Amino acid sequence: MRKIAVLTSGGDAPGMNAAVRAVVRAGIDLGMEVYGVERGFAGLLSDAPFRKMELGSVAGIIHRGGTILRTARAPEFFHKPVQEKAAQRLKEEGIGGLVVIGGDGSFRGAQALEEHGIKTIGVPATIDNDIPGTENTIGFDTAVNTVLDAINRLRDTATSHERIFVVEVMGRNNGYIALMAGLAGGAESIVVPEIEYDLDDICQRLLKGIARKKTHSIILVAEGAASAVEIGRAIEEKLDLETRVTVLGHIQRGGTPTAADRLLASRMGAAAARLLWEERSGLIVGIKGGVLSPVPMMEAFMSGRQFPRQLYDLALILAK
Ligand code: F6P
Repeated sequence: MRKIAVLTSGGDAPGMNAAVRAVVRAGIDLGMEVYGVERGFAGLLSDAPFRKMELGSVAGIIHRGGTILRTARAPEFFHKPVQEKAAQRLKEEGIGGLVVIGGDGSFRGAQALEEHGIKTIGVPATIDNDIPGTENTIGFDTAVNTVLDAINRLRDTATSHERIFVVEVMGRNNGYIALMAGLAGGAESIVVPEIEYDLDDICQRLLKGIARKKTHSIILVAEGAASAVEIGRAIEEKLDLETRVTVLGHIQRGGTPTAADRLLASRMGAAAARLLWEERSGLIVGIKGGVLSPVPMMEAFMSGRQFPRQLYDLALILAK
């Protein structure tokens, strides 16, 4: 493999830049030319030239959120003629391998290119941590820490006013961010799509807390489970207690990546470059028990992720 390209796709995630840096520098170290494709799969379809990446092209980015290659959601990439055109462009440029840094939607695009003769490797990067085949995705740890920081701040004001706060977090169709931030942040209740919630139970827990002189309560709601506004309104109606709602939104997608995300991105990005150099493809770089392990890309969107129910139960016990 002489020439490879790298792109970032889908929702951005803190640590994507560290992954791009690792692909570029490890790729060059292995003697390959590395090109950057801007704006994800859309960049494969435009006339914009690919960016020849040198060691210096990725200087000063390991600590920056977002992605220097920019990103896009490219629904048009689901169409076969579009995929063929993109594969053709890569072939014309003499590029035999592509690293796709993104989530499961991005890996579907990568798998399509694979079927058109381009060797592809996926690097899982999404704050949602919803990719089967890896225990962790780049960006998840930073997002959880961002939510924790918000919870800490909200607790201060919640305590002063003796209020209930309902906080909505991202996660698309899963509750990983809500679960991990809820457990680490001591949330009184956690609402996730994987487990049906019961408003009466949430209210009972709030009342028990107040009975033992709790001055504040935080309820974390995953966006895929319910609307925090509706839950907040329902609690206020049922209990007649002052409730405030905060929707954290895209704040969770930005910011300096944590050490954990930079380490994960550096390891995964370098491993992706090496896999292409070894002419291997159709894989995502997963991590299991702290060890990097390539898994077939198809697995990343064929099987569901097991929700860690025991951690959810633990969070509820500890927040009593
Ligand atoms: O997949 C990452 C994510 O931030 C989800 O948590 C969220 O549902 C979605 O992207 C938001 O997407 P957009 O930025 O396109 O509105």
